[in-house]
Amino acid sequence: MKLNKKVVKVTGGASEFGFVTCQELSKQGEKIVVFDLNEDAGKLLVTGLGDNVIFAKVGVTDETPIAKGIQQAINTFGSIHVCINCAGIISGGKTVGRFGALALNIFAQVININLAGSFNVLRLAAEQMAKNEPDVKGDRGVIINTASVAAFDGQIGQAVYSASRGG
Ligand SMILES: NC(=O)c1ccc[n+]([C@@H]2O[C@H](COP(=O)([O-])OP(=O)(O)OC[C@H]3O[C@@H](n4cnc5c(N)ncnc54)[C@H](O)[C@@H]3O)[C@@H](O)[C@H]2O)c1
Repeated sequence: MKLNKKVVKVTGGASEFGFVTCQELSKQGEKIVVFDLNEDAGKLLVTGLGDNVIFAKVGVTDETPIAKGIQQAINTFGSIHVCINCAGIISGGKTVGRFGALALNIFAQVININLAGSFNVLRLAAEQMAKNEPDVKGDRGVIINTASVAAFDGQIGQAVYSASRGG
């Protein structure tokens, strides 16, 4: 799909990867919908980039705010063509460390945000994209998930993070 005034949803847009992605897409004239829990940084981004960017306070693990954020995007820009998942957390810890086995709730939290959260956002975005008219190549939308080399070349203390970022 060629980008040209398309509507791009970026999770984690308030920081680093997502932030720079929004800046670059904005320079190209795309319309951007930022999903993030960090409202202050998200609003600052919108102020810096202008009218073609909107922010929605959305946690990637919660269906209702995602659905509302998607609706906000549709109301403002008419559709969603691209979903870029950058939201995530990094949490370290050895499987067995000085104080015993890693707590299962730490593993579950990282998997829930990085893996299940990415799928949660992309499945609802894909449902919306399926309503788009196909372009000349037959594409209705594009989904990009942030991965990490840690998934393939894990380091000590990254078992949880590695498991969550296989792409
Ligand atoms: N920075 C790197 O060098 C690097 C390298 C490889 C992969 N990655 C991956 O890319 C992702 C983004 O990297 P980054 O450096 O921009 O991270 P970051 O921590 O700077 O930004 C992550 C963003 O996600 C948001 N977020 C966290 N939990 C959320 C949730 N539940 N719902 C919605 N938003 C949430 C945070 O508020 C933040 O704005 C990371 O999760 C990491 O897995 C990063």
